[in-house]
Amino acid sequence: MAEKVTFKVFRFNPEKDKKPYYQDFEVEIRKPGMMVLDGLNQIRWEMDGTLAFRRSCREGVCGSDGLNINGVNMLGCITHISDLKPPIVIQPLPSLPVIKDLVVDLTDFMNKFFLVKPYLINYSPPPDKERLQSPEDRKKLDGLYECILCACCSTSCPSYWADPEYLGPSALLNAARFILDTRDEGADERLEVVNDRHGVWRCHTILNCIEACPKLLNPTEAIGELKKLLIRKKF
Ligand code: FES
Repeated sequence: MAEKVTFKVFRFNPEKDKKPYYQDFEVEIRKPGMMVLDGLNQIRWEMDGTLAFRRSCREGVCGSDGLNINGVNMLGCITHISDLKPPIVIQPLPSLPVIKDLVVDLTDFMNKFFLVKPYLINYSPPPDKERLQSPEDRKKLDGLYECILCACCSTSCPSYWADPEYLGPSALLNAARFILDTRDEGADERLEVVNDRHGVWRCHTILNCIEACPKLLNPTEAIGELKKLLIRKKF
């Protein structure tokens, strides 16, 4: 008989439930290296087709299955069940409105991302081919460009929970990604946006964002770079 692990899953359907509750499912371990997402798929496909959660790539690339698993934000598709202490408690990402079960409303998170203008701004006429960058300058973007917008970092941050207007680690890391890009000419407009009590100055270096990031990025360090830039520019 296959070994079983209990998944304790947050359930809430605002159309019929007065309040959230947890439901237990016995997930069969059918292969070595099973991920939390495999377990959720087993539940939805074989036990309860009404369970709602997001997923797409299954490879830690698309960022859709950010979840709070045993109290820590992580991606279900790259989290080994065998690394977790049962019962495995699965909740939606903290602080965001729940649409249904494990699906949260990311509108506010994405709006904050767009506020920092996460695209190349360059007012010079485009060259015949691409805008060139030296390998050394390109290297400065390592650790910044890899963000997959899973929201694990921002929703792990107590400052983000407490201040609904705080841009959050993800948006600020993405601001740094473009501000530090030598091909970009929009640094000052972005620095105006992040130089705010709901911007970089709301970060109190609690460091939860570093622990939560599945891509091993360091938003706190990126925010520190922005603070240094602002001080140098005497904004
Ligand atoms: Fe794409 Fe997990 S399903 S990151």
